[in-house]
Amino acid sequence: MLFRLFRYFRLFRILFLMFSKRFKWSLEPNRFARLIEEKKKAGARILDLTESNPTRVGFDYSDDEILDALAQAPAMLYEPAPRGLLVAREAVADYYAERGLKVDPERIHLTASTSEAYSFLFKLLADQGESVLVPQPSYPLFEFLAALEGVELRPYDLHYIHPAGWRIDFDSVDKAVAPNTRAIILVSPNNPTGSFTKLREVERLNAICARQGLALIVDEVFGDYGFADDESRAASLVSNDSSLTFVMSGLSKVLALPQMKLGWIVTNGPPGLREVAIERLDFIADTFLSVSAPVQHSARSWLQLRRSIQDQIQKRTRNNLSWLLGETENSPLRLLSVEGGWYATLELPRQFTEEEWVMSLLEKDDVLAHPGYFFDFRREAFLVLSLLPRAGVFREAIARILARVERV
Ligand SMILES: Cc1ncc(COP(=O)(O)O)c(C=O)c1O
Repeated sequence: MLFRLFRYFRLFRILFLMFSKRFKWSLEPNRFARLIEEKKKAGARILDLTESNPTRVGFDYSDDEILDALAQAPAMLYEPAPRGLLVAREAVADYYAERGLKVDPERIHLTASTSEAYSFLFKLLADQGESVLVPQPSYPLFEFLAALEGVELRPYDLHYIHPAGWRIDFDSVDKAVAPNTRAIILVSPNNPTGSFTKLREVERLNAICARQGLALIVDEVFGDYGFADDESRAASLVSNDSSLTFVMSGLSKVLALPQMKLGWIVTNGPPGLREVAIERLDFIADTFLSVSAPVQHSARSWLQLRRSIQDQIQKRTRNNLSWLLGETENSPLRLLSVEGGWYATLELPRQFTEEEWVMSLLEKDDVLAHPGYFFDFRREAFLVLSLLPRAGVFREAIARILARVERV
């Protein structure tokens, strides 16, 4: 008895005293994860509409060229550089130049990923307990990235009007800004809504940043994946010098090579302030020096290959999207307008909750899709679908969703 008590005490001590309180998540698999496991064990062929790993959906990468680029002699020299090696930063600057955007390589910091870039920027801008504004709905990793840095998230709304699309609800931005707010995050195009930030929205955001002393953190990882040109969009915020602005992107989407671990931050803003931010980012990046030399030396050759993979992705996502539009036109499902990115959102009839829809689709139809609440949609019932799966898988899964919806 005494021994058991002692064991409980030790367990309590380990769980509550030894680990940081920033870690507040349960590691127990939820109902959904358990069902997926059971299905897989039983040998079910699951049609996965959550698949967002581009290396698993049959794209033709130039394997030899990608791998050969890693074997470069200069990579044998260790040259610690907080911003990253100039050869790689120049390659990133040229990537922007090809898009008609002028970026000084001295304003670029390389990181191991965009996720790491977020963590650097949270360290730079916010103290423990201070806040940043995040769009809602958006990318679910924010919750973890911010909590692990001790930063609070305050959501502002993206508002949907059919068929015009999504726009920033500026009343909600004004309401979300608190005295301890340090930055506004934009994701353009956003995951999963696929909406780009518009030029007139940037103007209003700059005014808010100037008034409240805030920075802009802009995630442009899907920036190369617009479905159609649109003059009203802000193609990129790398040239925005009205506010302190940090634009992030990286190879995980630009080259569909998340495993190569290369991201970056482009800093802009009013002269003076911009330089102070860059020096401080130098210090943070110097503490980690996280990008490997072979990857940095490969950046130029890799970035030159991007058209081939981007063309394949554009073709796949466009085909899946236009097929989805055709299938849902005269159905109880509504496809929300989408401007870019790798995802589409379907609105379902509301006689069931999202949880019920996704569970029943998985249980009865072997179709896996994300519920809207995963991305903090304000209301139900939405399904978020990856547009990356092969056409055969995608079409069969949509046919099963339609059949399920029409049956109820
Ligand atoms: C909007 C957005 N930002 C950032 C990332 C993460 O990118 P990285 O692999 O560079 O960390 C993702 C990944 O899906 C994403 O959707």
